[in-house]
Amino acid sequence: MRSLIDIVDFSVEEIQQLLDTACDISENPAKYVDACRGKKLATLFFEPSTRTRLSFEAAMYELGGNVLGFSQASSSSASKGESMADTAKMLSCYVDIMAIRHPKEGAPYVAATNASIPVINAGDGGHCHPTQTLADLLTIYRENGRLDNLTIGCCGDLKYGRTVHSLLAAFARYANIKVILISPEELKLPKYVKYEVLEKYGMEYVETTSLEEAMPQLDVLYMTRIQQERFDNFDEYERLKDSYILTPEKMAAGKPTMRVLHPLPRVNEISVKVDEDPRAAYFRQALNAKYMRMALILKLLKEAEEGKQMETLQTVEDPRLICDNPRCISSTEQELPHKFKLVDPERGIYRCIYCESKKTLN
Ligand code: NCD
Repeated sequence: MRSLIDIVDFSVEEIQQLLDTACDISENPAKYVDACRGKKLATLFFEPSTRTRLSFEAAMYELGGNVLGFSQASSSSASKGESMADTAKMLSCYVDIMAIRHPKEGAPYVAATNASIPVINAGDGGHCHPTQTLADLLTIYRENGRLDNLTIGCCGDLKYGRTVHSLLAAFARYANIKVILISPEELKLPKYVKYEVLEKYGMEYVETTSLEEAMPQLDVLYMTRIQQERFDNFDEYERLKDSYILTPEKMAAGKPTMRVLHPLPRVNEISVKVDEDPRAAYFRQALNAKYMRMALILKLLKEAEEGKQMETLQTVEDPRLICDNPRCISSTEQELPHKFKLVDPERGIYRCIYCESKKTLN
């Protein structure tokens, strides 16, 4: 069944159709009140969330459908040791579509390959968060008026911030995008995103630690929270947590047309005083997230009716290819085969199909 696991599962044309549908929904909500009558969405949230889960639920209600699910792992059978594959097979008997958030990277992919209904990745560990990216794209499209010819500054925790990983993967396919990566040394963008997204697609990028220096160049400033829950070392989190705080003084150096986005929740990386600035778009972004999720549910349910399938991935199983990422779903689900995809045949580079960790075989 067609699912959304990674933002690159959708072509640029498909993303444009979603943007158009989301804009139409926001202008003509009455047209859609019965669009999902009789359909059910399950929200399986094994990790905390406010916006993502509630915007999915609000989206389904506004389409006339129903919602069931849970918001913490402890209230599901995962706490008894049920596998993701079994959970997905069983849920396929109860609902028409499901959204999954999970701390283990690759968990939604495992669900999608076992379910007989569409699966939506609502965030997997530090890996990716494609539906947030769809909301981000809609916001930039509406606020800046375009998705090409932009200078985008991504600021904060670029190592663990999954929203940035998905956003950059999406922008790799738009023309003339310049990226300024603003982070402390310890929280720089993972190499796999740098090499296999930015460099592979020839995107212009620079890395800096200075928000002040980047500010005057930006069309979009994408702020992120330092991801406390993904740190192994609490002292390191304490040391880095206030690396960047956006204030009205810093905003003064930005263009009048610049927009500030943040997937939220904010901790203290944006002063509340910035909220009054018309360039602060993060609460409008949260509203766009609901429209985008409505458009997404409509698309995936329609494709399920048409019998559209996920593209099958060419995978390799080899005893030398074992994923050693402790955050990968294969580290806890012992039954899962370790499967890799060959991403660079010349240099013998493989990536885990669940979490994209790298392995080299020569
Ligand atoms: C983000 C997430 O969960 O990755 N939040 C969201 O979905 N809106 C960002 C974050 O938690 O910092």
